[in-house]
Amino acid sequence: MTIPKIAIFTDDAGWHGKQLEQAFKNLGYDSVFVSLTECRFNLENQALPIFIPEFETELPVAAFVRGVPGGSLEEVILYLDFLHALKIMGIPVYNDANAIERSVDKAMTSFLLHHAGLKTPLTWVLRDRDAALAVVKNELSQGHFVISKPLFGSQGEGIRRIEKMTDLPWLTSSHGVYYLQRFVPSAGEGCSDYRVFVMNGEVMATMRRRGKSWLNNVAKGATCERIEPNSEMIHLAIQATKLLNMDYAGVDILEDSEGKLNVIEINSVPAWKGLESVCDVTIAELLAQDLINRYLKTT
Ligand SMILES: Nc1ncnc2c1ncn2[C@@H]1O[C@H](COP(=O)(O)OP(=O)(O)O)[C@@H](O)[C@H]1O
Ligand SMILES: [Mg+2]
Repeated sequence: MTIPKIAIFTDDAGWHGKQLEQAFKNLGYDSVFVSLTECRFNLENQALPIFIPEFETELPVAAFVRGVPGGSLEEVILYLDFLHALKIMGIPVYNDANAIERSVDKAMTSFLLHHAGLKTPLTWVLRDRDAALAVVKNELSQGHFVISKPLFGSQGEGIRRIEKMTDLPWLTSSHGVYYLQRFVPSAGEGCSDYRVFVMNGEVMATMRRRGKSWLNNVAKGATCERIEPNSEMIHLAIQATKLLNMDYAGVDILEDSEGKLNVIEINSVPAWKGLESVCDVTIAELLAQDLINRYLKTT
């Protein structure tokens, strides 16, 4: 009997890829790292219109998305097309393209959170520079700092905080789009936020991240501390994950100085090395089990 093969989409397998590969192996599945940049549509091939390296004769039994590369709009859409197409062909894609599209786009995430009534910081997304400057000036004049983020950013890259009028010349758009958000000071001493890891509608692990500055990303040197989430945090993280229809998610939650919880973002391709270092769960094992149990066992 041939061993079923899972595609792990990534351009840099690294620690997370290796963890997943081993976890799938322990459950009787082979996995192959593939870059979405190497996939193709080839409609000449009736049965296999999607070419994926190492899956030339048979599509994977499932796809795990560990990374979608950046690129031009056309390139990124093509990468997502492959993920959509796999799902249309009946291949489980863990987190699927819809979930990835909505969460990678910070504007859409903010809108959907707001629309669903889940508390998230006040946000403005716009093209016009003068209008962007007016938003920031107005916020500053009311005593608020403003955060400017790249629309498709991650791991704290490119995020700036505008603190005073003389910072205004530093206000830059991301490829023509300004994503501006009111800075929410966090509760307690210094700056911190929470990363809640949700899988299949359940919270599996939670940590507090304490950044070197107000930026609490692990990739930017934040320290991790395990915490037990309260019921409100659990409920909010699960609702946010459901909102974007995700199999699993890393939800960033910030507790403000009034003790209210704000959803900052919902990551569809979260890293978990920092979280795992302070929790007693093996996240790759949980993910592999969940994918297999919910999507492959029944077929
Ligand atoms: N509106 C905000 N108020 C206060 N801190 C924020 C705000 N937005 C982001 N941050 C801080 O910056 C970090 C990164 O922001 P986030 O939106 O999660 O972007 P990324 O995708 O780069 O992680 C957050 O984890 C939080 O610590
Ligand atoms: Mg984040």
